[in-house]
Amino acid sequence: MKIAIIGTGYVGLVSGADFANRGHQVTCVDINEARIEGLKQGVMPISEVGLPELVAAGVKAGMLEFSLDARAAIAEAEIVFCCVGTPLADDGRADCGMIYEVARTFGESITKPTVLVNKSTVPVGTAMKCEEIIKKELQNRKMLDSRPRVLALRGDPFFAVVSNPEFLSQGTAVRDTANPSRLIIGSDDAWAIAQMELVNASFITAGVPKIVMSRASAELAKCAANAFLATKISFINEIANLCELVGANVDDIAASMGLDKRIGPAFLNAGIGYGGGCIPKDTAALIATGHDVGYEFKILPAVQAVNESQRRILYTKLCEFMPERAGKRIAVWGLAFKPGTDDVRSAPSLQIVQNLLADGAEMIAYDPTAQKNAAGLLPQLKFAKTPLEAVQEADALLICTEWPEFAELSLEKIAEMMSNKLIIDGRGVYRNVERPNNVKYWTVGCG
Ligand code: UDX
Repeated sequence: MKIAIIGTGYVGLVSGADFANRGHQVTCVDINEARIEGLKQGVMPISEVGLPELVAAGVKAGMLEFSLDARAAIAEAEIVFCCVGTPLADDGRADCGMIYEVARTFGESITKPTVLVNKSTVPVGTAMKCEEIIKKELQNRKMLDSRPRVLALRGDPFFAVVSNPEFLSQGTAVRDTANPSRLIIGSDDAWAIAQMELVNASFITAGVPKIVMSRASAELAKCAANAFLATKISFINEIANLCELVGANVDDIAASMGLDKRIGPAFLNAGIGYGGGCIPKDTAALIATGHDVGYEFKILPAVQAVNESQRRILYTKLCEFMPERAGKRIAVWGLAFKPGTDDVRSAPSLQIVQNLLADGAEMIAYDPTAQKNAAGLLPQLKFAKTPLEAVQEADALLICTEWPEFAELSLEKIAEMMSNKLIIDGRGVYRNVERPNNVKYWTVGCG
């Protein structure tokens, strides 16, 4: 099929490259000129394993191209995927301004029956609003009256808006897109559902579970999944805090809980709380949606409150061990909100570093991919080329992201390089490792 993808972030670029390698003709569009220019030269705007190769294969096969011209791409396409961002606004709601702009451009541009698919995470009711915007545009163009289906039968412009949330995780975006856990088609329009089945035929043949539901249900299904993941994380973090007080080990408890099939092992890693571009935003947006319709969530504000205090825990612990931080040299391992990504959006590391810089500490960080993004936000932060360089002569080491390479380093070697052998481990990297006697070590959930 001929596809236009609007937005070349994690969802749009990875989905576009994946569709191109499944035999679809894909045009990925963005308003960011530098990004599109870079993509044309093979420069990826985000760091994801396997993405450069996937994009190169699509381009080489002549199935994937990049453009700044949304109108032309939409006019050519049979199906348009809206993959633009929905950042968190000051009022805790997702800002859907860019989504509505895409809907307007879609209404201005289509020349034949076309489906608009919202892959971005949006609040419930967004597809409905997009539909109204498109209808208005088509009415302005005298291309739509109140009987769109009849017009479609005559071959006149016709459209449908489908909700098709994407569940990929950063760091494993390429793998998740190729092997989705489920295919959600939010629509009650038989033609649009058939088009969605066609574009996703290879997933359906491979046995990916498909659920067709209303658009409102599909929109809510994504936010509910992310808010539930947030709940699991805050739950295990509270258990971790209790473990510390009673002398228990949260990893053992998580392992035991995870073996219960009704619970499952995922998202039970205690640490310094969740961050990133999705889980915090979607949890806040779900609370706001409830509020707007007169439903006040009881669980989710508590989930958020636990996360907020959990994010402060490393700083609080360091202050207990080190009442005077001015002039101290403190190493930070990991800046990204999780391993496998260079993304620092809502990363717990940022606040911790900011607090310590404000205390007058000298901060030296190491992160394998996120240093550039962090440097833009924290100009006073110094960077090391390796984790060991960061701990040289350090008075303390804080671990904020569990990059696998950290676990491979010997604690003896790390301790040898530090002037004061204090390790505050926010991700439990060394929780279950034998530690040298001269190391003062604290981690979440280990009494
Ligand atoms: C999330 C969802 O997992 C994904 O399905 C959705 O499409 C987008 O949002 P992502 O933002 O990439 O994906 O990150 P995720 O792997 O969910 O981690 C979010 C945060 O939770 C990270 O800061 C991570 O460190 C933290 N986390 C995760 C924990 O603290 N403990 C866990 O057990 C799991």
